[in-house]
Amino acid sequence: FTIDWDASAAEKGGWDSFMDKEIHEDPAAVQRTLLGRFDDSGAIELDEVRIDEHDFKAIDKIIVVACGTASYAGQVAKYAIEHWVRIPVEIELAHEFRYRDPILNARTLVVAISQSGETMDTLMALRHAREQGSKVLAICNTQGATIPRESDAVLYTHAGPEVAVASTKAFVAQITAAYLLGLYLAQVKGTMFRDEIRQQVDSLKDMPRKIQWVLDTQTAAVEQAAERMANAQSFLFLGRHVGYPVALEGALKLKEIAYTFTEGFAAGELKHGPIALVDAGEPVVFIVPPERGRSVLHTKVISGIEEVKARGATIIAVAEEGDKDVQRYADVVFWRPACPTLMSPLVDVVPLQLFAMNMAKIKGYDVDKPRNLAKSVTVE
Ligand code: AGP
Repeated sequence: FTIDWDASAAEKGGWDSFMDKEIHEDPAAVQRTLLGRFDDSGAIELDEVRIDEHDFKAIDKIIVVACGTASYAGQVAKYAIEHWVRIPVEIELAHEFRYRDPILNARTLVVAISQSGETMDTLMALRHAREQGSKVLAICNTQGATIPRESDAVLYTHAGPEVAVASTKAFVAQITAAYLLGLYLAQVKGTMFRDEIRQQVDSLKDMPRKIQWVLDTQTAAVEQAAERMANAQSFLFLGRHVGYPVALEGALKLKEIAYTFTEGFAAGELKHGPIALVDAGEPVVFIVPPERGRSVLHTKVISGIEEVKARGATIIAVAEEGDKDVQRYADVVFWRPACPTLMSPLVDVVPLQLFAMNMAKIKGYDVDKPRNLAKSVTVE
């Protein structure tokens, strides 16, 4: 797949950048990754994954090896898979993994997540895992790439070719594929009832519509926020639970295409140091969990917002429609439609993708080809 950077507007689907086009393909990326992966009874069927059910049943640990955005997709999936399958899921940056002499055996499934399937760090990590006797399953967006070819099995995402260097639609597709894998493991290991699995599948199938709602209704708010924040020198991104890797991903997007200094971290870390960074007017982005049932996480994130608000920060919140606490404290809100907490990363990341793209456009940078970066890092 060769990238024609000067593709005509037609190739960009009429969008003025590949990144804009690909963000608007987020809904289809989720939908197409789900297609054809259920049998007539609605049970999950991953026939293309060449690992037999007996081996899947024996798995008692998962290690995800990936880099950058792909590692954040794995980090989101960790919360869901551990909840559904009750086995530990470790997220390892591929370039750190093999140099720390990891503990591996036949009951550990290594999941290599890679959009390009050519990232050398991830390839070397999977080679090490296989040498140590672990099975490797690739989650990849590029048919026939090196990483799936060298893995025991592959679960392809079907986001379509991703041209912009900044990964967007692949991220939501990677989460979707990892969730399918987790629910399939729960199905074969019997850690969830059929109707519980079906409920999660139905929630997943409903996410493309919810992502589309965000694209249709929040784009103007994102564009206004980018105009307002165009001169900000740095941003903090905070989140809890599945919102934490979304904060990391939002920070990375702004770093890599708007060249803005950002720091993403767990909202609970605020008082353990980072709050010292908060200055009057400093934009702080919070990914706010749903309020449903006054979840303890919601209360804790709101108290974090109060803390930084009291120090004069500008609050940007990604939150569920109708959240009254957020309305009270936030200067800018990107709303999401109600959805289960575990599904929220699929919608919460969308305004952050759009925000980074708008910030880069305002600064006059090349949204699709940011400086110093390659689409696939094929060197170690
Ligand atoms: C994401 O926007 C970056 N371009 C980068 O972090 C990327 O996700 C990482 O290099 C992994 O690439 P891969 O998914 O192709 O392996």
